[in-house]
Amino acid sequence: MKLFDVYPINDITVTKALGSYVWDKEGVQYLDMYGGHAVISIGHCHPHWVKRIERQMTQIAFYSNSVVIPIQQQLATKIGELSGKDDYQLFLCNSGAEANENALKLASFHNGKKKVIAFNKSFHGRTSLAVAATDNPSIVAPINETDNVIFLPFNDEVALRQCFKKYGDEISSVIVEGIQGVGGIRIAENSFLQLIRKLCDDNNAVYIADSVQCGYGRSGKFFSHDYAEVNADIYTMAKGMGNGFPIGGILIAPHIHAKHGMLGTTFGGNHLACAAALAVLEIIEEENLIEIAKQRGMYLLHKLKAIEGLENVRGRGLMIGFDVPEHLKDLRKKLLHQYNVFTGEAKPNVIRLLPSLAISRKQVDEFLDVLSEAVKDLNAN
Ligand SMILES: Cc1ncc(COP(=O)(O)O)c(C=O)c1O
Repeated sequence: MKLFDVYPINDITVTKALGSYVWDKEGVQYLDMYGGHAVISIGHCHPHWVKRIERQMTQIAFYSNSVVIPIQQQLATKIGELSGKDDYQLFLCNSGAEANENALKLASFHNGKKKVIAFNKSFHGRTSLAVAATDNPSIVAPINETDNVIFLPFNDEVALRQCFKKYGDEISSVIVEGIQGVGGIRIAENSFLQLIRKLCDDNNAVYIADSVQCGYGRSGKFFSHDYAEVNADIYTMAKGMGNGFPIGGILIAPHIHAKHGMLGTTFGGNHLACAAALAVLEIIEEENLIEIAKQRGMYLLHKLKAIEGLENVRGRGLMIGFDVPEHLKDLRKKLLHQYNVFTGEAKPNVIRLLPSLAISRKQVDEFLDVLSEAVKDLNAN
């Protein structure tokens, strides 16, 4: 049987990983500045994470949500402690799209309304509502098309006010990434998030903070939305949550009430996924990784700005992007194949850096050295 060919892949077979490095089947070492698409938060195969999963596996890996699963509560308590949102409620699922799907649905259950505001260049996942709120028509199937989603320009306060003025009674939720990832590392302005908060309050709408990529410490705060010093009603989480073990979740403000049967999933919150997620939080806490992400990020941003040719260097913490001008268009390929460094991209010309939050200063310097060399090389040709 053939695999369904949907991924444009690099011809590299990764067979081993540790910390911020991966190795291919020939034993070649690569520096991972991509974090397997922002997923690797505490570093590949962290020994504590491995041990905790192994230990859980020998006890119980899975039972359905029809019984008490104490490790779910342990996880909820720990997320509450680290995020500072301990009065919120946790619902567990398996991926980012699923987290957003549940958030949008829950908002609609909560206020009985249907319309969603989303923003240009947003990415919220590939399930039906999540993809309908994603600004990429090429991945929206005819069956997912809906008039319920209104797209507005990102960071445009006038457009946001006008939209609420016109449709306020119908708007169920506003879904927004604190830092757009797939959209090319575009930071939501603090004042924009504050306005979303206010307009949602004034119009009984739900503020959904998509923190699937920018959350879980990556930005130098637990949620990048925290920079605006307002609380969202729902935070969606996934990528960094399990360090590669599939898990997603949503944090739900106390005024949104649960009802039996309202949401549900077979695999969400299983013992093994919770063990992986707890291990991640334990390491984030023990190794002070949110602060480290902030410091390393500031250092990286500062140094990147000094490299001639890179344009619009931007980001927060370890979620960084820069534009690549036409004469450097082969930079990403060169970094991968000549210098053995994985980076991310955003179309048409952005390089995205999403390394593990545990990347060392030495590894950051290693990256900066090869990047400067690669740019110099391309500048010379
Ligand atoms: C901001 C954001 N939301 C949602 C998703 C979807 O997550 P998943 O691929 O786990 O469904 C992604 C994935 O890239 C994302 O970046």
